[in-house]
Amino acid sequence: MTEITRNIGLSLGADICWPACYEGIMRRLDLRIPHQGNTLRMHVERVTIEPFDLMQSCKYDVVIDRLTHWYHTSREWIKKAIVMNDLYVFNNPWAVQSMEKHTSYCAMMRLGMPIPGTWMIPPKDYEPTPDLQPTLSRYAKLFDVGRLGPKLGYPLFVKPYDGGGWRGVTRCPDEAKLRQAYDESGKTVMHVQAAVAPFDRFVRCIGFGPQTHSVLYDPDAPLHDRYTMQRDFISQKELDHLRKITLTINAFFGWEFNSCESLRRDGVWHPIDFANPCPDSQVTSLHYHFPWLVKSYIKWSVFCAATKRKMRQTLDWTPFYEIAAGEGTFEEKLDQYAQIADQRFETTRFEEFCDKHLGHLDEVAHEFFGTEEAKTAVRQKVTALFPQHEIDQFTELFFNRIQEWRRVEGR
Ligand SMILES: Nc1ncnc2c1ncn2[C@@H]1O[C@H](COP(=O)(O)OP(=O)(O)OP(=O)(O)O)[C@@H](O)[C@H]1O
Ligand SMILES: [Mg+2]
Repeated sequence: MTEITRNIGLSLGADICWPACYEGIMRRLDLRIPHQGNTLRMHVERVTIEPFDLMQSCKYDVVIDRLTHWYHTSREWIKKAIVMNDLYVFNNPWAVQSMEKHTSYCAMMRLGMPIPGTWMIPPKDYEPTPDLQPTLSRYAKLFDVGRLGPKLGYPLFVKPYDGGGWRGVTRCPDEAKLRQAYDESGKTVMHVQAAVAPFDRFVRCIGFGPQTHSVLYDPDAPLHDRYTMQRDFISQKELDHLRKITLTINAFFGWEFNSCESLRRDGVWHPIDFANPCPDSQVTSLHYHFPWLVKSYIKWSVFCAATKRKMRQTLDWTPFYEIAAGEGTFEEKLDQYAQIADQRFETTRFEEFCDKHLGHLDEVAHEFFGTEEAKTAVRQKVTALFPQHEIDQFTELFFNRIQEWRRVEGR
């Protein structure tokens, strides 16, 4: 029997806590996966930043990327390695680069999802480029932003078409606020979107390959309490519904990890923000849910590395559109979209693989999240984000919530 090493690269920026836990658990797992008469071993290392020859080979089988949406040398290295060396990366860098919130709204509207009514408006202000004046004076139609209010209804939201991190989001209860939000939006291209209001549930569903995890979210709470620890907040049927929504979005866009926000009003789930292809993975926001996420990182990356499944390098939307154009209710279509997603994510094969080769992960993770090593990872993240005098308090808070997870769900 020969040992074959599969190399998993972590492409990281400011992340501290999840990679430390990922590495700690992988070390303890010490995987030896039988494969065609040989034994597969997993080697994990962090990807470095350096000049590269476009013709160079790539030592990684899989790269988990959380950097390249803003650090473009690495993005271009990853694109080169996919194109030339068949590297498997999540997420697909072209899909991250070109599909913003706006495209995701349009596409999911076409698939029939009840996305709130949304308009795009030209920016209030511009960079003074040479062609600007002739272009605007010839083609830009004068408009009155206030006229969108009655069309969409109040309250509404003014927010960047490619948003993220709650930047530039304004809730407008009336026309005066709508005008003010537009006046203050500067050079940013904005959406004006009908509010889902009042809603009675706000759920964030995190998707990782075929794995999903729904969390009741409280947008008004301080950052460390927004992901609530509530359980049984919606029915199993609704959980399944949100799972299908999330997997459909992720399969459609080639995002293997992403999170999808949906609001429930009058029993209907409205997705409002689902272009988050580098979703929050920090213990300081996820706390209780953090171990689920770390385990999901491990399972999906090991599955992809061990099986050497092929990365989907280009997106194929045709099968989704064919279903959308066909007969049936949205629920029936959603079932069919989700079937495509399950095929693309190889859900059945993945679950069999985990049962067979990662059966000890639950126990190893349960033990790991009680160790000093895990606590140090939490402390390091807290130290990076919190003022000195709050470090002890918040380290305890987050670590205790993880211990709660160990008590409730960890085995
Ligand atoms: N149509 C809507 N109806 C109700 N609430 C909304 C709507 N759009 C946005 N919001 C509220 O504003 C918040 C921020 O909006 P959104 O999620 O679209 O922006 P974002 O910048 O992507 O935020 P984040 O990165 O924090 O998820 C949402 O979490 C929600 O509380
Ligand atoms: Mg959001």
